[in-house]
Amino acid sequence: MENEKPEERKIKSFVIRGGRLSSLQQRAIDNLYDEHVIPFSETPLNLQELFSKSQKTIIEIGFGMGATTSKIAAEFPDTNFIGIEVHRPGIGKLLSEIDNLRLKNLKIIEHDAVEVLEKMIEPESIDGFHIFFPDPWPKKKHHKRRLIKSPFINLLSSRLKQGGYLYSVTDWVPYAEQMLEVYSNEKMLENKYKEYASPISWRPRTKFEMKGLKKEHEIRELWFTRT
Ligand SMILES: C[S@@+](CC[C@H](N)C(=O)[O-])C[C@H]1O[C@@H](n2cnc3c(N)ncnc32)[C@H](O)[C@@H]1O
Repeated sequence: MENEKPEERKIKSFVIRGGRLSSLQQRAIDNLYDEHVIPFSETPLNLQELFSKSQKTIIEIGFGMGATTSKIAAEFPDTNFIGIEVHRPGIGKLLSEIDNLRLKNLKIIEHDAVEVLEKMIEPESIDGFHIFFPDPWPKKKHHKRRLIKSPFINLLSSRLKQGGYLYSVTDWVPYAEQMLEVYSNEKMLENKYKEYASPISWRPRTKFEMKGLKKEHEIRELWFTRT
């Protein structure tokens, strides 16, 4: 990414967590991976060839176990979705949901979203991005790992079509403040709201959100559009 120091580029926003796959997740990986997972590649994707119907494309970054992803894809069959994640059990779980719900409009990429956007997604080709509860990396020494930083948001914005949106949610107020600052400073983005967005009715709640609410964290939503 431009304007990022080489040593910062190497820092990832995730740590691959170990943990065994459940038998359901392993079966889904064995039987469904090739059908629904797009392999990482250094060349741009042809979005229209990926899906049975050519329609709007939304990308979700860091879908976790994919609970939100499959529900939203089922609710909006006239939109195509690509979920990006590095956590294998989540890939397995979402594959089994794609199969259960017979979803034709949802594909997965198992790779670092930063590299996917750089290499596989063409400029001005995406209608929207969802980033729900990105890892907050609360300790100061880990802040450099946060996904939402100016160079990444500049890259992401360049991949949005004009009028496309970036919808983010977090339960970590200091991270929400950082998001608001980074998005507001990005010339390609415009805030649809004065500050934080009103809750969006179609976003289902996830386990991360419920955990945050239990700890009495405030949920902050942000909705920006590409100018
Ligand atoms: C705190 S979890 C939230 C999961 C989900 N969005 C939810 O709300 O339940 C953040 C997820 O983002 C994924 N992640 C972080 N950085 C990523 C990256 N650069 N590319 C792909 N996935 C990433 C992590 O593996 C993790 O599963």
